[in-house]
Amino acid sequence: MALAKRRFDTLVIGAGGAGLRAALQLAQAQATVAVVSKVFPTRSHTVAAQGGINAALANVTEDNWHWHMYDTVKGSDWLGDQDAIEYMCRAAAQTVIELEHAGVPFSRLDNGKIYQRPFGGQSRNFGGDQATRTCAAADRTGHALLHTLYQQNIQAKTHFFDEYFAIDLIRDAQGYILGALVLEIATGEPLLIEAKTTLLATGGVGQIFRTNTNAHINTGDGLGMALRAGIPLQDMEFFQFHPTGIAGKGMLISEGARGEGGYLVNGEGERFMQRYAPHALDLASRDVVSRAIYTEVAEGRGCGPHKDHVLLKIDHLGEEVVAKRLPGIRAMAQTFLHLDPAREPIPVYPTAHYTMGGIPTDRHGRVVVPAGHGEEAISGLYAVGECACVSVHGANRLGGNSLLDIVVFGRAAGNHIIDYLAENPFHRPLDEASVEGAMARLVRWERPEGEETVAGLRKKMQKAMETYCGVFRTEAKLTEGVAAIEALIGRLDQVAIHDHSRVFNTQRIEALELENLLQCALATVVSALGRTESRGAHTRVDYPERDDTHWLRHSLFFLEAARLDYKPVRMKPLSVESFPPKPRVY
Ligand code: FUM
Repeated sequence: MALAKRRFDTLVIGAGGAGLRAALQLAQAQATVAVVSKVFPTRSHTVAAQGGINAALANVTEDNWHWHMYDTVKGSDWLGDQDAIEYMCRAAAQTVIELEHAGVPFSRLDNGKIYQRPFGGQSRNFGGDQATRTCAAADRTGHALLHTLYQQNIQAKTHFFDEYFAIDLIRDAQGYILGALVLEIATGEPLLIEAKTTLLATGGVGQIFRTNTNAHINTGDGLGMALRAGIPLQDMEFFQFHPTGIAGKGMLISEGARGEGGYLVNGEGERFMQRYAPHALDLASRDVVSRAIYTEVAEGRGCGPHKDHVLLKIDHLGEEVVAKRLPGIRAMAQTFLHLDPAREPIPVYPTAHYTMGGIPTDRHGRVVVPAGHGEEAISGLYAVGECACVSVHGANRLGGNSLLDIVVFGRAAGNHIIDYLAENPFHRPLDEASVEGAMARLVRWERPEGEETVAGLRKKMQKAMETYCGVFRTEAKLTEGVAAIEALIGRLDQVAIHDHSRVFNTQRIEALELENLLQCALATVVSALGRTESRGAHTRVDYPERDDTHWLRHSLFFLEAARLDYKPVRMKPLSVESFPPKPRVY
C-alpha cells in the first residue's frame, strides 16, 4: 500500500505549552499548521506544572526584568547564554499579560492584579532581599495555561493529529528538514507529513530516572529524533533534581509550598537550610536545596523509621491558605500519602524533574550545529521548550522559568518561522532514502523476537541512571554508568514484542520510546563523565569546584561514536552589561 502523505507549512511535534504557543502564532498568521501529539493535547506534561511562571510584574514587591535576568544567570551558575536570558526576562511581563488576555485564569490579589508568590533563587536588586515574581493560578498554573492555549488553537484552526507518534525526521542530502514520518497509534498505519518547517516541542526526558516528577510519556522522543538525524544534544549532564518530591514515589510537591511560607526540617526537627543557604534558606536554588537534603539524609539526620527523607511543613499556614493557594498538592498528599498537609508535614526527597540540556537552538528557536569555527542553522528545523537548549537555564533552572521559556520561545520560533515561510514558499522535493530510513525504524519494531522485555530494560535503565548518574557523581560511578547504558543499548536487539497486531499496539510504541530513552540516557551519562568540574546541578565529588577557566563551555553529544565536543557560553547579553561569573551563594 502506498504511504499516506499530508502537506503543511509547519509541522509541530508535541502539544505542550511550547508547541501550542508556536502553533498559535503560526495559525493566527494564516500558516497551515499540523500539531502531532502522542497523547490528547491537554494531557501533555505542561499540564503538570504547578507553581507558576516568572515575570517581573512588581504586583507584590518592587521588581524589574534586569533583576530577573541577574537571578537567572546566577541560577544557571553562569552556564546560561546571556543574550537568550536577557531576551526571555525582558519579554516576560508582556508574555504573561498576553496569556492573561488569552484567558489564563490567574489567581488574583485583593486589588485584582495577577497573584505572585516568591520562588527559589529570586532576589531584588541583584542578590538582595527575596523577590515575589512567580505568577500563579493556585498550584495548577500549567493546567490553566495549557487548556487556554489549546482552546486558542482550536479557534485559530490549527490541525491536530491526536495520538500520533513521531518516528523520525525526514532530511534531504542538502541538510534541509522536510517533515517527519509519524504513526497513527489507533490504526498502526504510518503517515508522512511533509512540511516546509518542522518544530520539535516534545518535552524532557525525566523517565530515564527511576524516581521522577515526569509523566510516563516524557521519553525524549524529539531528542532521539534529533540525535538520529546527526544533530548533537547540548549540556545533557545538567539534569535538575527537584528538592521536594513525595518521598519514595517522586511526585512533585510544588516549590510554591515553600513560596507560601513552608519550610523543611530534618529528623532532629532542625531547619537545616540555615546551614546551607543562610540568606535564602528554603528558597535557595533547587540544586542547593537538593544537595542539602541528600547530605542531611546521608549523614543520618533523615526522618522516619529508615531516616530516608526530610519533612516539608506547611501545617502552620492555616487551612485557608492551603485550600486557596495549594489545593493541588494537598490533593496529591491526600491521594498518595493519605495525609492532609494542612495538618501534618509531608515526607519529601529530591526527585528527577527537568532536562536542562537538549537540542541546541538560538533565541529564534532555530536548531544550530557546529560548522567550521562557528555554527549554522539547520534549514527548516526548530526546537522549543524542554527538548531545546537555548540556553536560558544553563546548569540549573530557576523554578517558574520553564513555563516562561516555553511561551517566550514558542512565540519567538513562531515569528521566525513566519519569516522563513515568506522566503521559502515552496515544498522541497521529498528525499526517498530518508523516508526509507524512517520506515526501517518502524518496521524493525513490527514483530521482533528475543529474551528481553521493554519494561525490563526500561527499569534497568532507570535504576542504572539513579545509581550512577544521580545528584553526587564520580568518575568511577559514571564510567560504570556508561558501560551499563551501553550494555542495555546492546540488548535492545533482544527485545520481544508479543502483540503483533497493528491496532493500538502500545508495546510497539513503548519499544520506540525505549530506544529514545536509552539514547538520551547515554547522552546524559557520557556528558556527565566528560565534565570534570562541579557546576549547578552537576556535582562531581572528585572535582568539587566550579572551573571557569576551562568549563565556561557547553557540551555537545553526538550519537555517532558517542562523541563529545564543546562550544563557548555566550556571555554577551543583547543590550546590557554582562554579569561576569562570581561565587554563587544564597
Ligand atoms: O515546584 C514547582 O512548582 C515547579 C515549578 C517549575 O519547575 O518551574
